[in-house]
Amino acid sequence: MTKHESERKVVIVTGGAKGIGQGIAEDLARRGMHVAIADSDADIGVAFAKRLISSGNKARFYPTDVADESAVDSLVTEVLARSGRLDAVVNNAGISDFRPLADETLEHWMRVLSVNLTGAFLLARAAAPHLRQTRGAIVNIASTRATMSQPGNEAYSASKGGLVALTHALASSLAPHVRVNCISPGWIDVRTRQGAVKVSVDPTSARDNEQHLVGRVGKVEDVARAVAFLLSEDAGFITGANFVIDGGMTRKMIYEE
Ligand SMILES: NC(=O)c1ccc[n+]([C@@H]2O[C@H](COP(=O)([O-])OP(=O)(O)OC[C@H]3O[C@@H](n4cnc5c(N)ncnc54)[C@H](O)[C@@H]3O)[C@@H](O)[C@H]2O)c1
Repeated sequence: MTKHESERKVVIVTGGAKGIGQGIAEDLARRGMHVAIADSDADIGVAFAKRLISSGNKARFYPTDVADESAVDSLVTEVLARSGRLDAVVNNAGISDFRPLADETLEHWMRVLSVNLTGAFLLARAAAPHLRQTRGAIVNIASTRATMSQPGNEAYSASKGGLVALTHALASSLAPHVRVNCISPGWIDVRTRQGAVKVSVDPTSARDNEQHLVGRVGKVEDVARAVAFLLSEDAGFITGANFVIDGGMTRKMIYEE
């Protein structure tokens, strides 16, 4: 997305305080978009938004639990009131919490589904009329665990599989005005972005890196650049799609020798 294309555009990034969402928010802000960071972690969210603003970007923090219907509706109302328009939504907020099947409770299952899947539905529904006006776009952040699992992934995998399916359903419902796509990341190292300021961390091990076809674990920026592309006019013929960004991990045969 060029600076000219993104100027004045407004994007909501959920889970934008930390991790991949922080990288997405920073990347879109640098491209000139006004970024509404919606996250349940107010301490880091406020500090991160201040950091973006102090380096000349347009950003604001909105404390939000994406699983809360009224909070999501208020988020969209407030963003519209302050910024006057809405061009894009990135449904990134998620909890990656795995439990053995025998220990999985209905309460925990419902919470994972509520945050990872229902939150995206709630925000897409609330944002849809405004995105139609701007011919906007939505990107959902799912996971390669939508299609592959380790033991104890029931709630998380189900939520991400649902998000991939929600993506093509929304792409149909919101056509032709709003494009809706999905990114399924593999292993992305988010340790550098767990506070408001990016920190350096111990490098990933050779074993971690070498098991990927591209020879390294993913970076937050790998996902952020793909989000920027999918939100841009360059992706104008792409909707309802799921892009796997995993360094080739889900293309490897895994028979043990
Ligand atoms: N890191 C990975 O390897 C990886 C791989 C595949 C998919 N993902 C997905 O990418 C997304 C971001 O993951 P991450 O690794 O950056 O995680 P993270 O924990 O570093 O960041 C998640 C962010 O979401 C926020 N959040 C959590 N619950 C929320 C709620 N109810 N309402 C609003 N905000 C909430 C957190 O406060 C945090 O800022 C998630 O959807 C995750 O499932 C991550």
